[in-house]
Amino acid sequence: MKIIMLGAPGAGKGTQAKQIAEKYKIPHISTGDIFRANIKNGTELGKKAKTFMDQGLLVPDELVVDLVVDRVRQEDCTNGYVLDGFPRTIPQAEALDAALEAIGEKIDYAINVEVPDENIVRRMSGRRACVACGATYHLVHIPPKAEGICDKCGKELILRDDDKPETVEKRLNVYHEQTQPLINYYTDKKVLVEVDGTVDMADVFAAIVKILGE
Ligand code: AP5
Ligand code: MG
Repeated sequence: MKIIMLGAPGAGKGTQAKQIAEKYKIPHISTGDIFRANIKNGTELGKKAKTFMDQGLLVPDELVVDLVVDRVRQEDCTNGYVLDGFPRTIPQAEALDAALEAIGEKIDYAINVEVPDENIVRRMSGRRACVACGATYHLVHIPPKAEGICDKCGKELILRDDDKPETVEKRLNVYHEQTQPLINYYTDKKVLVEVDGTVDMADVFAAIVKILGE
């Protein structure tokens, strides 16, 4: 099963993708997580990506396309994968389709998690992420057991630089301009499905399972 998660920043793509990956036993590939890991490790890619990410801008297509195309060709992706945060532009979607077509494959579902802009800023300012393992929490919806400490690995939880309110607004604008057109793109390909992302996380997941099957 090859799945793409679509949705605004903070719509819950990562939250749902992790559960999909676990239930259907396929890898969760988040380009945001890949960039954050590169930033943390001080790689060249990380340095380049950071300058765009901190401003709420997209990293240029040429830094992300090959990375994902190489990743989905790896052994563990034979039975499928869930892509979270990619594609984010029409050229990225076209490059992915071309790469898949070349090996006789295609995307099965593009799941659009719908959340209106007003809800987004509230969500992001409450999100906390672990500096070490990337686990995410929400101060109100999924608080960690001990304040500021990751339940899973005991390391520090932080507010992502790009979750500051002014940057979130910028990311939303970038989303509407560059990523939202993918909804029509995947509708035309007849793989788009939509779920309401404003309800409880468990209910969002239940709606997704209904679509993908038990
Ligand atoms: P990325 O990491 O992908 O960020 P994003 O798309 O902006 O999405 P987020 O991770 O912020 O949100 P999410 O939808 O995963 O929501 P989450 O589940 O965490 O990318 C970061 C940056 O990297 C980009 O801005 C760009 O610069 C660069 N980049 C990445 N990919 C790229 C690409 N392909 N091309 C170019 N540049 C790229 O949930 C958010 C919060 O809400 C959490 O606290 C969560 O607990 C809470 N929450 C989730 N669901 C619910 C619910 N149902 N009810 C209440 N709260 C909920
Ligand atoms: Mg995410």
